[in-house]
Amino acid sequence: MQDSPAVETLTPEQAAQELAQLAARLSEANSAYHTEDAPKISDAEYDALKRRNAAIEARFPDLKRADSPSEQVGAAPAEGFGKIRHEVAMLSLGNAFTDEEVEEFVQRVRKYLNLRPSDALAFTAEPKIDGLSLALRYESGLLVQAATRGDGATGENVTANARTIADIPQAIEGAPEVLEVRGEVYMSHADFEALNKAQAEQAAASGKEPKLFANPRNAAAGSLRQLDPEITRARPLKFFAYAWGALSEPLAETQMGAIQRLAALGFVTNPLTRRCDTAQDLIDHYRQIEAQRATLGYDIDGVVYKVDDLEMQRRLGFRATTPRWATAHKFPAELAWTRLEEIDIQVGRTGALSPVARLAPVTVGGVVVSNATLHNEDYIAGRGASGEVIREGKDFRIGDWVQVYRAGDVIPKLADVDLSKRPPEAVPFVFPEVCPECGSPAVREEGDAVRRCTGGVICPAQAVEQLKHFVSRKAFDIEGLGAKQVEQFHADGWIREPADVFDLKAKYGSGLQQLKNREGWGQKSAENLFDAIDEKRRIALARMIFALGIRHVGEVAGRDLALHYGSWPALTEALDTARPAALAHRKADEAEIAERASAADEGRRARISEARSAVVADSAVPPEAAQAWADLIGTDGIGPTLALSLSDALANPEERAAFDRLTAHLTIEAPEAPAADSPVAGKTIVFTGTLEKMTRAEAKARAESLGAKVAGSVSAKTDLLVAGPGAGSKAKKAADLGVETIDEDAWLALIEGL
Ligand code: IVH
Repeated sequence: MQDSPAVETLTPEQAAQELAQLAARLSEANSAYHTEDAPKISDAEYDALKRRNAAIEARFPDLKRADSPSEQVGAAPAEGFGKIRHEVAMLSLGNAFTDEEVEEFVQRVRKYLNLRPSDALAFTAEPKIDGLSLALRYESGLLVQAATRGDGATGENVTANARTIADIPQAIEGAPEVLEVRGEVYMSHADFEALNKAQAEQAAASGKEPKLFANPRNAAAGSLRQLDPEITRARPLKFFAYAWGALSEPLAETQMGAIQRLAALGFVTNPLTRRCDTAQDLIDHYRQIEAQRATLGYDIDGVVYKVDDLEMQRRLGFRATTPRWATAHKFPAELAWTRLEEIDIQVGRTGALSPVARLAPVTVGGVVVSNATLHNEDYIAGRGASGEVIREGKDFRIGDWVQVYRAGDVIPKLADVDLSKRPPEAVPFVFPEVCPECGSPAVREEGDAVRRCTGGVICPAQAVEQLKHFVSRKAFDIEGLGAKQVEQFHADGWIREPADVFDLKAKYGSGLQQLKNREGWGQKSAENLFDAIDEKRRIALARMIFALGIRHVGEVAGRDLALHYGSWPALTEALDTARPAALAHRKADEAEIAERASAADEGRRARISEARSAVVADSAVPPEAAQAWADLIGTDGIGPTLALSLSDALANPEERAAFDRLTAHLTIEAPEAPAADSPVAGKTIVFTGTLEKMTRAEAKARAESLGAKVAGSVSAKTDLLVAGPGAGSKAKKAADLGVETIDEDAWLALIEGL
């Protein structure tokens, strides 16, 4: 490029020739970037080629080619797909692996619905297709939008691609005005083999490395997520409809009815879908599907069970990420034997030292596996979570012949070792007692299976993992800032803590220039990154809390804390107030552990609880601290372990300062109360006694969906006690505190019609 003559000096012949070359080079770069996911030139070079092309075209407009790269909007790198927010979230499914777990699932549903043993409860059972889910929106019978699942809340707009799939109708008749059909895009075994064969032949012809897909699922995903729909069209994708999202009117009264309706509208539904009346029926159908698995011609990884009655589905509703009314009965794990070549220790976000097995590559259920988890040092040594002997006490040693086990998309594990093949020189594995990354002591706390690096923020591995978590999809979700980029920025000292992400532009902001000069960054991708970062300066409180990566504080806890405290200052203030009580709680825990260790069996309980109350009384906790602590651990979903971990993080001066530096960059949004117009929104409610019209779990879920907080115990903060027959001490306490108390019928009347 540097050597190219100035555009002003080009003759028309030279210009035409160069435009042809540029079109070819840019098209190759595009397909390397988008189609093969393997860019061959940097963004900077790409940008330069495009600018050169535009400059020549500007001088010789008549020479502009029909396939001019400047006309190829949408195919430009880094633009990717548009985002679509799902009107109804796309969730995943809980799992069952054994017949007992299927029984338990059925029992859980029965219990939640308060069914008597004689009440009927039907399910559907159908294959779980191993592809990727897709939501198709039809308005007035016309396909208007197709979106991938993405993170469940927001997916990618792949409408143009979906239109190329033969199984997906473009227009349907007799459908509700708004109909969102959901199902799985997949590739058959035969089509997958043929595609890989064609890819290999093409590569051989052009002397390139073939880009082969590992399995039909990857092939389907890679084919659907093509920026050029013509590539998708050439890929033989198929679609099974099995669910729905937004609807202007119900499809049917039952799951089976809805599936039949979808079939009648022209969608392909799975022919192995059955209605089943008992857990045994489900398991029988599962066995039948399992027996046909090898001859179906497409990959399935289990059988999905769904409650048939749609009104019951509605009542059962959802947990954080999975429906209560469905589960996936997974096929058993697949096994293979191979050599254990090395045991590496990885340091995680919270300092946990995780042993990883490096294996001689082996195919397990169609996927090449070369790494597997070894859990922790006890697992390597042949001991289970409670110190019990596992694998008859056989340990894993480097050089051993080991069995790999893989279940669905779960990380592969090492299950067994063949001692008859152990090399004579193999020695027991010695688990490190210092952090391999920063050299700090790695300690195991009482009762913890995991050894942890004590280096905290000085440990580069912890810092990097924290940052990766911080920018990850469920946290700040910063586009263009993935694990790889975080590692690069951290290694170069540009990002050391989360706050630095928001300083990136300011610090290196002539930065753009500096960033552009770095490997892999061009003008466009640098600008995109800064924009993506700016977009996240406004963030929901729940995400912010989750993003901090505090041990035990997951996504659900982030949401619970956000809903309970409503703002970051309110949360930190409450935790600061509660600190003395948190410390007393820890002391009491320690006393309890010490007591347990020394106490003889007899009278143990009495002494332990004496020790606990002695410590708590001793530490003279101020009443406001006790109150704030009680309020914290009384929050639904927040237990003492989580509360202590959160308290420790906020009380640690370095961590706190880092949080303050971060929040200074942010506008933190208060959580949306799910339904602010309901009379119970924002109220704290306690249920007690026997409820007769619904189960406790259902009552709680319903209250929460109306924006109420449900607490387990009555306190001055309780707004309402719903008391069924048999209510005891809670009703008395509510009366003492003057908390309003109503019965179940009054509760139902209050929320009726909502
Ligand atoms: S129903 C609310 N049915 O499995 C959940 N999902 O692990 C509705 N899947 O994201 C999903 N086959 O991509 C359902 N017959 C089937 C399925 C199926 C495959 C996928 C789907 C989902 C994932 C959950």
